[in-house]
Amino acid sequence: MEYLEIEGGVPLKGEVKISGAKNATFPVLSAALLAKGKMHIGNIPRILDVEHFIEILKEIGVGVEYTDHGVMLDTRGEISSQVVQSEKHSLRGTQTLLGALIGRNGRALLPSLGGCNIGTRPIDLHLKGLKQLGVKVRWEEGYLIGETDKLRGDSIYLDFPSVGATENIIIASVLAEGDTVIENAAREPEIKNLVEFLNKLGADIKMNGSGIIKIKGVKSLKPADFDIIPDRIEAATFLIMGAITSGDLTVKNVHMHDFEPVTMKLKESGANIEILNEDSLRVRANGDLKAVNIKTLPYPGFPTDAQPQMMALLSVAEGSSVITETIFENRFRAAKELRKMGADIKVENNVAFIKGVKELTAANVSAVDLRGGASLITAALAARGTSRVMNIYHVDRGYEKIEKKLQMVGGRVVRKKDNQVL
Ligand code: EPZ
Repeated sequence: MEYLEIEGGVPLKGEVKISGAKNATFPVLSAALLAKGKMHIGNIPRILDVEHFIEILKEIGVGVEYTDHGVMLDTRGEISSQVVQSEKHSLRGTQTLLGALIGRNGRALLPSLGGCNIGTRPIDLHLKGLKQLGVKVRWEEGYLIGETDKLRGDSIYLDFPSVGATENIIIASVLAEGDTVIENAAREPEIKNLVEFLNKLGADIKMNGSGIIKIKGVKSLKPADFDIIPDRIEAATFLIMGAITSGDLTVKNVHMHDFEPVTMKLKESGANIEILNEDSLRVRANGDLKAVNIKTLPYPGFPTDAQPQMMALLSVAEGSSVITETIFENRFRAAKELRKMGADIKVENNVAFIKGVKELTAANVSAVDLRGGASLITAALAARGTSRVMNIYHVDRGYEKIEKKLQMVGGRVVRKKDNQVL
């Protein structure tokens, strides 16, 4: 099992180039199935979840060639409606294949959807929307089966602005007969990226940023090349790492408005945030960060995916902070491991009470989910001594070469397996 060995206490200084967004990649690659032809999708992050997703695309018949910064897709062949079950592929990212395969074949058979164990991850809102579009849904031998003779537009209200449900409904409705309106839709930048991509293929989607999305069904779509937006959560993670290490770190290739809640909270905590130009942002701090309160909310609120990393930073901020997690039921799993480093964190249901301590102490800790793992790396970078963050594959799911990026800005981080440096 690979792990990271991290010598803490070194201020991160320099520039980090941010990769493409994991959570924009899945819906765009799924939506590409709706157009038959060859298309280059650029700025794809080279991370485990995307590599597994691409394996699945190949298995169902999509031609996929990696290029130097993306993939060349060929969707002209016969595409199977069934995604075969295998633990390698149990990732939440496959959820948008549901809408895409129904949109292309009128049929989809998917094994139960996976994802981090940060909550129950239901798909009732996905299914509610698809049923309204005329899809018959049933479970059979562990497969979710969606079938329709004809997709028809409808007005769909989402009880919760679910990112995945919004994506699936958009993808399934672009080739439906008639118009679809989604109310209380998710507004994350990844949704905007998906809408831009589909409109480039010839879809007719309007997203006014207030949670209403209007889709006019069209007869067919044409292939087109497209680039994935930068990963706002990776950018936020590195900014938090720069702040906790009292460093001077710049994140490059970013859409900074996509993670404003995080930069505003870092500023509130006493970090210096400077916009260098339209795609790079600099954070500086000098060890006197103050406690702040955080409440995670759907976009444009504070992103749940940056919450565990902020929990690490607040563990060494002066004063008491309160984090309220409103999106997932089980997203404080890093707290237990952070306590091994001396953090003072009490969790009661969906609220974490944090008392800042002067300094964290290095420890051997284990990642149990993607962002929780990023939180442990964040803490280890600031802790006195050398820590080990085990089960680093959790972090590799969503961060491209994280130790290489940290080494480039002075981080004393090495990847090891059985004590051998990799
Ligand atoms: C996407 O997950 C992201 N994953 C998550 O990122 C992110 O945390 C989440 O959106 C929220 O921003 C991908 O895009 C692959 P949701 P998703 O549907 O689509 C409830 C990461 O670390 N819900 O918006 O699964 C659900 O239980 C990952 O990169 C229903 O009740 O998120 C949860 O409480 C983690 N019924 C809340 O909505 C449904 O049908 C948010 O879920 C669907 C969701």
